[in-house]
Amino acid sequence: MVETRAARILVASNRGPVSYALGDDGELSSRRGGGGLVSGLSAIGPEADAVWVCAALGEGDREAVRRGVGEPGARMIAVEESVFEAAYNDIANSVLWFVHHLLYQTPFEPLFDEDFRGQWAAYEAYNEAFAEALAQEAADGAHVLVQDYHLSLVPALLRARRPDLRIGHFTHTPWAPPDYFRLLPDDIAAELLEGILGADRAAFLTRRWADAFAACCVSVLGATLSDDGRAVTHRGRTTRLGVHGLGADGDFLRERSHRPDVAERITRLRSETGQDRKLIVRVDRTELSKNIVRGLLAYRQLLQEHPEWLSRVVHVAFAYPSRQDLAVYREYTEGVARLAEEINAEFGTPDWQPVLLKVDDDFARSLAAYRLADVALVNPIRDGMNLVAKEVPVVSDNGVALVLSREAGAFAELGDDAIVVNPYDIRATAAALHTALTLPEADRAERTKRLADAATALPPSRWFLDQLHALDD
Ligand code: F6P
Repeated sequence: MVETRAARILVASNRGPVSYALGDDGELSSRRGGGGLVSGLSAIGPEADAVWVCAALGEGDREAVRRGVGEPGARMIAVEESVFEAAYNDIANSVLWFVHHLLYQTPFEPLFDEDFRGQWAAYEAYNEAFAEALAQEAADGAHVLVQDYHLSLVPALLRARRPDLRIGHFTHTPWAPPDYFRLLPDDIAAELLEGILGADRAAFLTRRWADAFAACCVSVLGATLSDDGRAVTHRGRTTRLGVHGLGADGDFLRERSHRPDVAERITRLRSETGQDRKLIVRVDRTELSKNIVRGLLAYRQLLQEHPEWLSRVVHVAFAYPSRQDLAVYREYTEGVARLAEEINAEFGTPDWQPVLLKVDDDFARSLAAYRLADVALVNPIRDGMNLVAKEVPVVSDNGVALVLSREAGAFAELGDDAIVVNPYDIRATAAALHTALTLPEADRAERTKRLADAATALPPSRWFLDQLHALDD
């Protein structure tokens, strides 16, 4: 491989800004993704010589790499398919995601056996491939921002190759508390922490997750924490800890949510829910951590305890497919649909469906639901941030009452103006839904305004630039 060494700013993440699909005619078509990183990176402009290193996720991406098709500023890494599957599905999604979101049913899992060791070796190889690509692409002294639990080992692997670089790591998930993190085999727990500590700076979405990471470093590695808790020293190297609470992109959302396709979805949604009914809205990827099932159980309890809501409310639940390669995700998706049907069968009438569940991903329809929501239900078991909680108040037409899990990262910024719930407590969530539905209008309006202000305090562009600049401090 030729040494390029030209990029001054590099971003590395598993999922990149673009993906390819291979048509029946053998043609490749590309699709650009959205999200905080994409808009964050656009803030630095094309003159910054930035390169985004990402993984080839499917057959279309792998074919694009084979054909040398690509976008300027993006480099896709195609590791062997079996290596990628083991690294992504078996380790990143089935182990690291579970650890950080506290998702295991511990009497039965996890099982750290020989199979796991093979998968872990694939995770190491996949991280090595990223470190190698970054080492090739980075100019002398370049800044590298490594994203998420897929790439926990990259900072240390990259530093070993290129000590001249300024390396940051950003975790978009929560971080597990030490007792839970120590479910991992000791050597793996240490390898993960030492991987991230290879960075100059390790950043998180909230102080709570940064503190948990620091506590794991102390507990697992015997590392030293600075008096202010903002730096970890291990084997003579110090890694600073940062917090950047990614916010909603207010300008984009306000403009996008007033385009004609959203207006059309509003008309359609209203015809499905009824014109005057209150709407309890949730929009999630169908991830185990999102707690959609308990949300539905709480809604059922609300209808049981408060019959005055029968026929006057609809739970609009958009649950978009996620990680369908994993059986447990497929089962969860089916469980959500089953429960929605049960509630509709139990309470529905010829002219009222209590739950409107949609599983086909439609961004314009999500924005329509945001605008109409009387109540937004965001009740994750645990979540790095949860941008839905931030986006709904920004685009709400008539004010929204936010029912928010105290285990979402967004709680740190929005908790004061939300109706806060313990996500495991179905009765309390049902009560919170009732409180939210009956919140006096003036109170709801004031809360919505404060929520929208807090939600947009750190837009993606500044979130990204802050991290970049902090690497120079
Ligand atoms: O939402 C948290 C997050 O970790 C994002 O940072 C990341 O892009 C995503 O989850 C990963 O999801 P997927 O497995 O679909 O790429």
